[in-house]
Amino acid sequence: MADARVLFDDKTGCSGWQAAHCAAAIFLVGTLLPAIATAEVKVSDFGKTADGVSVKEYTLTNSEGVVVRLISRGATLTEWHVPDKDGKMADVVFGFDDVAGYESKGNGYFGATTGRVANRIAGGKFTIDGKEYQLTKNDGPNTLHGGVKRSLDKVVWDGRPFENAKGQGVVFKYVSPDGEEGFPGTLTTRVTYTLTDKNELRIDYEAVTDKATPINLTNHAYFNLSGAGAPTVLDHELMLAADNYTPIDDTLIPTGEIASVADTPFDFREFHKIGERVEKLNDKPGKGYDHNFVLNNQDGDLALAAKVREPKSGRVLSVFTTKPGVQFYGGNFLDGVKGKNGKPYAHRSGFCLETQHYPDSVNQSKFPKAVLRPGETYRQTCVYRLRPNE
Ligand code: BGC
Repeated sequence: MADARVLFDDKTGCSGWQAAHCAAAIFLVGTLLPAIATAEVKVSDFGKTADGVSVKEYTLTNSEGVVVRLISRGATLTEWHVPDKDGKMADVVFGFDDVAGYESKGNGYFGATTGRVANRIAGGKFTIDGKEYQLTKNDGPNTLHGGVKRSLDKVVWDGRPFENAKGQGVVFKYVSPDGEEGFPGTLTTRVTYTLTDKNELRIDYEAVTDKATPINLTNHAYFNLSGAGAPTVLDHELMLAADNYTPIDDTLIPTGEIASVADTPFDFREFHKIGERVEKLNDKPGKGYDHNFVLNNQDGDLALAAKVREPKSGRVLSVFTTKPGVQFYGGNFLDGVKGKNGKPYAHRSGFCLETQHYPDSVNQSKFPKAVLRPGETYRQTCVYRLRPNE
């Protein structure tokens, strides 16, 4: 099967993916074409949203027998079955069995694509080119993960499966209208997941806009390398390629300072158990790890950001990104919500490594810029690699 990107470009005659509306139109045409070869990627019905919109499920498989599942609501990663050191498989990401689960209050953005602006915007407001915009606040005084009803994790995306030399995947596309959730500009977004034979899940983000707008797209997968539903991640060992982090105020908004991790519980330059120093943060903002780390690589190339290993299973997660930061969230707000197969997700039983621009970047002049303008293309990549014993 041809690479979906090539299909876009061949048909449009456009160079790359610059002409948003042109590409959007071709995507729609593409989804109507009957003969897209989907033999290798299984496409099934996952159910309907409360509003009656159909949600599709996509099953990707690689030559190692690794299976990934994705759904079109929220362009969400729902399952990732990987072997341990003895070849025993487990699904290591959080999720629910049905759409109602994903729509429930207990869903802490499990596996979803978050945006338009992932993480927090202080006071839910910002000014671009002299104009102030006010978003709906959904996290105390702030806006978290793109808003309330039509944030990218909650809408149903158009999905198109593909297979190419790198592996199997799905391209998800969503056109967010001007003003949706209060953000300026029509934002045309494409998120491409590819499962490779090296057990990597590569996520490529692309977006274009017709008005200047803040943007920060990430994936909000929760991992437990013993298997989703295991009681804790405090026994997992974490390494972060970050000499600095961004300290936060009581509402989890960065103070603007870039602080050294040296001599703090945030020093993961060498492997440390997640639980080793977490208690020191119990009564601090975030009630544990919920911080943005300033990655040492700031040049936009794909580089290692983090590694997590779980000693008993031998599973190791490596995270690579082109972005300048990563939010390490240790599952402090999980409270036992029941997920797939009725398994409870207890306090600190899952962790997220959300590759990102720093929180509240749109309001913080010293942070790397996160505003997309007409004529520009937002392009970022995150690779999660899961292999035993590396
Ligand atoms: C935030 C947490 C939040 C979680 C679920 C993370 O990205 O940093 O504070 O509880 O998402 O919403």
